[in-house]
Amino acid sequence: MKYFIANWKANKNLGEAQQWVTDFLKKIDDNPAVKQKIEKQEAAVIICPPFPLLSPLKDMLGHHTISVGCQDISLYEGGTYTGEVTAYILESLAQYAIIGHSERKKYFHETDDNVKTKYVLAKKYNIKPIYCVAAPEIPYPSDVQLLCYEPPEAISSGDGRGNYEPLEAVLLAKKKLHPSGDMKFIYGGSVNEDNVDVYLKSNEIDGFLVGGASLDPAHFFNIIKK
Ligand code: PGA
Repeated sequence: MKYFIANWKANKNLGEAQQWVTDFLKKIDDNPAVKQKIEKQEAAVIICPPFPLLSPLKDMLGHHTISVGCQDISLYEGGTYTGEVTAYILESLAQYAIIGHSERKKYFHETDDNVKTKYVLAKKYNIKPIYCVAAPEIPYPSDVQLLCYEPPEAISSGDGRGNYEPLEAVLLAKKKLHPSGDMKFIYGGSVNEDNVDVYLKSNEIDGFLVGGASLDPAHFFNIIKK
């Protein structure tokens, strides 16, 4: 099974998101081979929009065996924290959560300890964490099921066409991270329809976290199709 995770970051309003889903579902309907892979969960497709779009997207995508995930969760479980969105709130809205993305660390000063706390909270509220590490030296909990290696220098400035990491470097990082046998290893960093073949050559990579290239439904679909 391969994972295809769309990380929309701070992009798309409600109307744009609905249009994206309509166009994406049409692409899938027009391609029975891809449709079958998604229905059989051989391709796990997870769309991570901004928080307010989770509910409408879940309604639109749920019948198509496509999941939604959030891009972060609060460090707090609940209480007097204006503006925070907690795992408790998200439990019925998001099946997955991206935890510890390097942009959270770069722009919002999130620490490795914060990430671990968020990981525990996500699991407590039945949200599957997609645990991000920016480098092979970064420790992570041993029971992580979805480990995402996303080196910051490979992340695009928004168009999905940055300095993607060569396959050999990704595989070396995986080796250093020592993921356990049943852990899924995801790569993120400028994955797009033109370079995804590089990674698909290896059975060592279980999926992709796609930022810029997921903003266009046709582009994201082409990655899955490959
Ligand atoms: P990108 O983002 O595909 O635009 O490089 C990936 C990520 O944020 O992990």
